Formats: sequence, C-alpha cells, structure tokens
Amino acid sequence: MNNTIRSIVVLAVFASLVCAVGFAQSSGEAIYKQKCLNCHGTDGLASSGIGKIMKVKSVTDPEVKKLTEAEMIEMVRNGCGKMQPYKDELTKAQIKGSVDYFRTFIK
Ligand code: HEC
Repeated sequence: MNNTIRSIVVLAVFASLVCAVGFAQSSGEAIYKQKCLNCHGTDGLASSGIGKIMKVKSVTDPEVKKLTEAEMIEMVRNGCGKMQPYKDELTKAQIKGSVDYFRTFIK
C-alpha cells in the first residue's frame, strides 16, 4: 500500500517536471509567434512582409550568427534599430524564451 502511494507520488512529480520543461519551451515559441514572427518570419529569415520592408537581418547573416544569447536578449530588452524595446512588455524569462526559440533557426 505504502509502496503504491510512493510510486504514484514519484510518477506525479516526474510528470510535473516533464510538463514544466515542455511548457517553458512552448511558451518561448508562443511568444515568438505572437510578438516577433511578423518581422523575423516563421523561420527567422525575415523574408516576407514587414521583415522585408524593415530590412530585418536574416538568421543566416554572419552579423546575426555571431551574436551570443546574452547579446540578443539585451537587444530585445532595450530595442535595436527599428525594433522597439520589449523590457516593459515582456518579462526577462519571456524574452529569453523567445530569443532561445529564434536561435533554434541559426544553423
Ligand atoms: C517591428 C518589427 C520587429 C519585431 C516585432 C521584432 N523585431 Fe527583432 N529586430 C527588428 C529589427 C529592424 C532589428 C534590427 C537589426 C536588423 O536589421 O536585423 C531587429 C533585431 C533583432 C535581433 C538582433 C539580431 C538581428 O536579427 O539583427 C534579435 C535577436 C531580435 N531582433 C529578436 C526579436 C525578438 C525575440 C522579438 C520578439 C520579442 C523581435 N525581435 C521582434 C525588427 C523587429
């Protein structure tokens, strides 16, 4: 009996850890799609719409590739060129999440 309860608890804890990780990833993706995609594009190439008009650099650009995650987070927090600052709109964790998602396009 005790063992059964213990294994249920272990399973529940394990399941919640998995969910927490899954949620963190998908929330970065969700924020990117909501806030960043219009300019940076579905694949970070900024090849259509506003991205093209604003001449947003593609993730294939060496200038973008050489940026570290921390530099990108700073640029998004404080704004960069025509990009607005996001520090009042998004939390640091949300900005990190969307930047991490953006960085998955860098090859
Ligand atoms: C209104 C259009 C617009 C939106 C929305 C936007 N950006 Fe940008 N972003 C730009 C422009 C313009 C630059 C300036 C540099 C450039 O030419 O790429 C830039 C630069 C960047 C850079 C520096 C690397 C680079 O491409 O030059 C990162 C990283 C970045 N944006 C991420 C984001 C993230 C994450 C979001 C969403 C939270 C976001 N951007 C939303 C237009 C936008």
